[in-house]
Amino acid sequence: MYILAIESSCDETSMSIIKDGTEEICTVTNTQIDIHKEFGGVVPEVASRSHIENITIVLAELLEKSKMTIDMIDAIGVTYGPGLIGSLMIGLQCAKTISLVTGKPLIPVHHIAGHIYANNLEKRLEFPLIALVVSGGHTDLVYMKEDYSFKRIGSTLDDAVGEAYDKVAKVCGLEYPGGPKVDKLAKEGNDTYDLPYPLDDDSYNFSFSGIKSAVVNIVHNEEQRGKKIRVNDMCKTFQNRVVSVITKKTIRALKEYNCQNLVLAGGVAANSYLREELSRACSKENIKFSYPRIAYCTDNAAMIGAAAYYAYRKGITADLTLNAVAVETLYNE
Ligand code: KG4
Ligand code: ZN
Repeated sequence: MYILAIESSCDETSMSIIKDGTEEICTVTNTQIDIHKEFGGVVPEVASRSHIENITIVLAELLEKSKMTIDMIDAIGVTYGPGLIGSLMIGLQCAKTISLVTGKPLIPVHHIAGHIYANNLEKRLEFPLIALVVSGGHTDLVYMKEDYSFKRIGSTLDDAVGEAYDKVAKVCGLEYPGGPKVDKLAKEGNDTYDLPYPLDDDSYNFSFSGIKSAVVNIVHNEEQRGKKIRVNDMCKTFQNRVVSVITKKTIRALKEYNCQNLVLAGGVAANSYLREELSRACSKENIKFSYPRIAYCTDNAAMIGAAAYYAYRKGITADLTLNAVAVETLYNE
């Protein structure tokens, strides 16, 4: 089964053709990072306009590169949410148009299901598993007993971890998107600042607004005294605290839910220290740990095509009344 997948929930216009949920035939992604950089973050109206300009170009390039035609596609998978409404609508309109013209089924895909299924492009998921979803909009611990079954066991009470990385980066004077830069600079820093361990308790929930504010306060206090912070050390300390709590809670969840498999998902899955620490902890506990290749950690349509296949096998399809949603919960258990 060949699925044409479309992802446009934020600042990437991406399309992909995926065979049977596991094999990537071709992916084309147009990123808007350079456009949004000068504003220090994604500007929703600018993002939707850029999607409009690029979506047909991306589709034409995908068909040319893959040497396939729309006739050879069996279904269309599309991200319907959550994300920026204006951005989602462009991908959705494109998917609905192709479905209307060709009569092929339309499969609605939740963005977070996509992030989790990015792992399926590396190696077939094994169940039961715990998925640690860490992105710019989510920080969730998810239990999956089988394909396309999602039970959330913990979540952030305030900021998502990626959001905290980006904010810390910004206040330290680093360019958007800040997460990768914090990751890089932390490698040259030392853990010297007095930052709290974020929500280091017995729950599976997370909270990053406190540690974020602690960083902001230190930076501002130093500025008032005419001083500058040591950016590398701040990045290292922040990353140490965050990764330490995430790793601890994830391992506890794996044990309590009797899972031998951990998958990492979302933009922050690209973080080198988080990967290292989880790998270390999992090998100690004999847990199989998988993460997507870097290109499939951040938003892309390949992961949407992988998820769409399993959604379709569960009978999930939509008609042309399908709408984009800014906030929507994935969890069906
Ligand atoms: O999944 P994603 O592309 O978009 C959302 O669905 O939110 O995630 C983007 C987030 C941004 O906050 C970005 O700074 C963060 O992922 N990110 C990282 C790294 N690479 C991307 N955060 C920490 N370390 C990284 N290496
Ligand atoms: Zn995402």
